[in-house]
Amino acid sequence: MNAIYFQKQSRESLDNLAIKLSKKYSNIVVFQALACEDGVCGLNKLSKEHNIKTEYLYDSATGVKEYLKNENTFYKNIIIKVNELKAKYDFVLVASFGVFGGLDTFWINLKLSKELNLNYVIDNDLTKFEFAKIHHKYASLYNENTSLDELLNLKKPDYISPMAFEVMLESKAKENVKTIVLPEGNDERILKAASILLEGKAVKLIILGNNKEIAQKASDLGIDLDDVKTYNPGNSSLDDECANALYEARKSKGMSLEQAKELIKDRNYFGTLLVHLGYADAMVSGAACSTADTIRPALQIVKTKPGVKSVSGGFFMCLSDKVWYFADCAVNPNPTPENLAEIASVSAATYKAFGFEPRVAMLSYSTANSGSGVSVDLVKQACELAKSYEGLNYDGPIQFDAAVDIATASKKMPDSKVAGKANVFVFPDLNAGNIAYKAVQRSAGAIAVGPVLQGLNKPINDLSRGCLVEDIVNTCLISAIQAQ
Ligand code: ACO
Repeated sequence: MNAIYFQKQSRESLDNLAIKLSKKYSNIVVFQALACEDGVCGLNKLSKEHNIKTEYLYDSATGVKEYLKNENTFYKNIIIKVNELKAKYDFVLVASFGVFGGLDTFWINLKLSKELNLNYVIDNDLTKFEFAKIHHKYASLYNENTSLDELLNLKKPDYISPMAFEVMLESKAKENVKTIVLPEGNDERILKAASILLEGKAVKLIILGNNKEIAQKASDLGIDLDDVKTYNPGNSSLDDECANALYEARKSKGMSLEQAKELIKDRNYFGTLLVHLGYADAMVSGAACSTADTIRPALQIVKTKPGVKSVSGGFFMCLSDKVWYFADCAVNPNPTPENLAEIASVSAATYKAFGFEPRVAMLSYSTANSGSGVSVDLVKQACELAKSYEGLNYDGPIQFDAAVDIATASKKMPDSKVAGKANVFVFPDLNAGNIAYKAVQRSAGAIAVGPVLQGLNKPINDLSRGCLVEDIVNTCLISAIQAQ
């Protein structure tokens, strides 16, 4: 552990804890998101005496303004700042802020500690501690007799909040900036997402559509697209190259050059060809097109990775305190046992690529041998076949409750390494997967990031037609990371 969140009721307890920490860590910082009038918690004198550094993000007035302007951006900026501090210092003591316009700081501080994925440590106010415990599983009480070891050995939060996940996506994408093609330049949501992405400098963009119309729309929206390349399929400098490439890829399926010249006027074919030819690293489309129209060119031209037979689509399901992965929710209506086993393996790989340790549940209406039927047999066969994927940590057939709840798991599958703590869920068919992701998204308030298409040679990702600007931003970041 190299950071905790401290809800201070008294200056003395903060001083006391900071001094204790400064004896163990030579390079510690006390960070307060909103500084008070006398600096960070009035620590100036103390910080000189004990070599404790102090940092803040906003002065009080600016912080309140930023919060009221956009709450999400306010929290995200603090997460980014704390991540920077964690890399720079041996220990970061995040101190609660006390002044916040007329707003209730207790709840804002509590939410902040959860978004930061940090233990919430509170000094002696028992009433507030009781509240905190109800709302934060990792809350703990501190007083001057608490030993530092006791504090540092607290059970660490093992979740990632949706906001921390989004911040992680942006910082991972920035490690190796990739170019994304967005074929639906006529959609305002695409242009708004482009503006956010360009500001974050995590990706470069190509936008397809009528150049003049895009420029006019961008100007109406007050968006600067100077750094973006635009192409109008069927009327662009790349038409011939794209048509020839399409003809080469599909002539064995009976496509003529004339047909290819016609087909590249379709923005999804043109965008996919830009990825195929290396002008872009990934494509994100589907805000205005069906899934089938968006991904068919990729299935025909980009094709699957060596060793992968079928493309599937998964969702990162960002719940308040965890990120799960659901698949296949987008592509294969009737998977075979071979398809399901492969979906388990590629889903585990996708989840792992984003920094999580996968435990895969092969879902069914039966756990172990409790039920029978054709669809249970399908999952049983898939589980047998999954044995051939080395290192795959999975179990099934398993019901959802046994997959996620330790008490149920201990009764139904006591010896399983996955039951009770699964985080990757493979559904028996597209009906189940698609219905489940939408049910969780709409009833549990989850942010569903995806579908992430897995198994393709190059990243092409689909959007839902009801997508929001933030969904487009997240899908572009995911695509950029897949392209690295
Ligand atoms: N993996 C790899 N390749 C595939 C796959 C797959 N899962 N499915 C089809 N292909 C390939 C075929 O082999 C074929 O290649 P070829 O022409 O080089 O031989 C090519 O794709 C076209 O195959 P068709 O069978 O003609 O494919 P079609 O275009 O009819 O359908 C599709 C493919 C679009 C994926 C279809 O299965 C489908 O519509 N799936 C459901 C999509 C959907 O509606 N999802 C739910 C909504 S998504 C959401 O809610 C987020």
